[in-house]
Amino acid sequence: MSENPIVQITGLHKHYGPVHVLDGIDLSVNVGEVVVILGASGSGKSTLIRCINGLETYMSGQLNVDGRELLPLHNKLRHLKAVREEVGMVFQQFNLFPHLSVLENVALAPRKVRGRTAKEAETIAMKLLERVHIAEHARKYPSQLSGGQQQRVAIARSLAMEPKVLLFDEPTSALDPEMVGEVLDVMRELARSGMTMLVVTHEMGFAREVADRVVLIHRGKILEEGPPEQMFDHPKHERTRTFLRSNGSRDRTPPNLV
Ligand SMILES: Nc1ncnc2c1ncn2[C@@H]1O[C@H](COP(=O)(O)OP(=O)(O)OP(=O)(O)O)[C@@H](O)[C@H]1O
Ligand SMILES: [Mg+2]
Repeated sequence: MSENPIVQITGLHKHYGPVHVLDGIDLSVNVGEVVVILGASGSGKSTLIRCINGLETYMSGQLNVDGRELLPLHNKLRHLKAVREEVGMVFQQFNLFPHLSVLENVALAPRKVRGRTAKEAETIAMKLLERVHIAEHARKYPSQLSGGQQQRVAIARSLAMEPKVLLFDEPTSALDPEMVGEVLDVMRELARSGMTMLVVTHEMGFAREVADRVVLIHRGKILEEGPPEQMFDHPKHERTRTFLRSNGSRDRTPPNLV
């Protein structure tokens, strides 16, 4: 893959009181790359990806998204808004608007953010709902859908922003096991379509199959990173091996992996 970074992070630091949550993170993500972030609970994964769309502030270091620098402590709000328009986010809890239909949830961003007419926005939304295989539920409300269906709507809603990068924070962790596969399938299709993705997940099968690069975070630092074959089959650090072994048991996809 050619070097064409859309996210560039250098020496990122963040503290919560005495806790050094991000301890000098360096990470670049190229256009079209899929990076899976692994790490134990509390290692700083959510904090890191939330910094990338400005949901969290950081104290020092550099964070550049699509050529725009997000400064520490958000003292450049103009860039914050621009960056948020380029970086979509999918959360563990789908965060759909309960009072809007599925179609309205997805049509909102094209109208409000991209300035499309209501009719155009609806056409875009229907196309995206088809893309996540849920068009037949367009007129329903989120509460009428299963968790897996709601998460696919949430992915369509993020895509409706026409983001250049999509961030996922444990998108399948809140789902019943039988619904995990349908969401991972959609994410796999997105990855194949060339979307740039940063994915925090414990789904090791997905990481191995879909990631271009796997990054292991340990206590706010990148302990090891590399292509999945290297990380899973020939990790350099004993701690990587231990982590992958202990998390393999949480994997719900057929493990030929750990
Ligand atoms: N608002 C906050 N105030 C104080 N400490 C926080 C806050 N948010 C996170 N932390 C701490 O920062 C550290 C990293 O949290 P973070 O949520 O980034 O971890 P994580 O790797 O995403 O964990 P998990 O796998 O459980 O989601 C943890 O020690 C957490 O307790
Ligand atoms: Mg987290």
